Amino acid sequence: MVVTGGAGFIGTHTVALLLAEGARVLVIDDLRHACGAEIPPEADRVEAELSTPAALESLARFQPTAVLHLAAQGGVSRSLRDPAADALNNVVATLALLRAVVDAGRPRFVFASSGGAIYGRARRLPTSETAPARPLAPYGAAKLAGEGYLGMFQRTFKLSYAALRYGNVYGPHQDGTGEAGMVAISCRRLLTGEPPRVTGTGEQTRDFVYVGDVARANLLALGSTTQGPINIGTGRPTSIIEVARTLTALAGLPAEPEFVPARPGEVPASYLDPARARATLGWTPRVPLEEGLKLTLESFRRAA
Ligand SMILES: NC(=O)c1ccc[n+]([C@@H]2O[C@H](COP(=O)([O-])OP(=O)(O)OC[C@H]3O[C@@H](n4cnc5c(N)ncnc54)[C@H](O)[C@@H]3O)[C@@H](O)[C@H]2O)c1
Repeated sequence: MVVTGGAGFIGTHTVALLLAEGARVLVIDDLRHACGAEIPPEADRVEAELSTPAALESLARFQPTAVLHLAAQGGVSRSLRDPAADALNNVVATLALLRAVVDAGRPRFVFASSGGAIYGRARRLPTSETAPARPLAPYGAAKLAGEGYLGMFQRTFKLSYAALRYGNVYGPHQDGTGEAGMVAISCRRLLTGEPPRVTGTGEQTRDFVYVGDVARANLLALGSTTQGPINIGTGRPTSIIEVARTLTALAGLPAEPEFVPARPGEVPASYLDPARARATLGWTPRVPLEEGLKLTLESFRRAA
């Protein structure tokens, strides 16, 4: 298996699971946003930008049976500030990879897409894959473009692919220093005695899915022949304030969250219908929210 972005948050969890299942793994990552968790020595690795000859030739040499494409610029706000840089990484580099994958004999391809970013203000909740895609930021538009190219590569080059539309993934080793990743940011704040920050009323809902469940979905998708988009979420709405209060209670801090103004364009509700994942991959999430938040907070405590 080749895992691009295998040094990142979702990547390190997935690589560990792949190795535990006995797979041969090559990680391609230039470490620009490595999460700090160790890549096990059993995995081969190439430290290179995705679209460089070093990365693409290493893929050809490795002759993978499947490729999991996680490497991306993940910040929604950053994509709004610099859409062209976002597209270079999230669209153009993806295309270079797809070309190399076809040349390498068309291994199965699994693409990390985003439910939250692709559907925008969905009219139906929970949202299924048949809902129209109406992204609100360049990050989501780039994921949709990636899916568009995948459909074209499937029709023209017979590439077998799945685009996993993840919900809000959280868990150990997520970066809590940036603008995205509310659970990780809140864990970091709580460990220094500060309450989590909540935007607006905090009543807006999201689909929080634990990273271990996402890693399992990645493995199932790599080993399947299901084509097209597949939501990877819990199907349950969780408000931001509920996450903030649960984490605060787990941390034993007698405090209320700190309220800050809502972000412009923030979607009031977003959660995904995971029926297709259940029917085609046999995937259902296993880790309930409170347990996942506990595991995450404990891991941040250990790392502090
Ligand atoms: N975390 C979430 O909640 C979430 C939700 C939906 C979709 N996704 C998608 O899942 C994937 C993984 O997300 P993550 O949270 O693990 O992100 P991450 O930033 O932790 O990991 C991405 C990894 O890719 C590497 N990388 C980025 N661009 C690269 C390039 N051009 N060449 C080589 N390496 C490169 C980084 O160094 C990093 O190690 C991304 O495609 C992201 O858009 C994440």
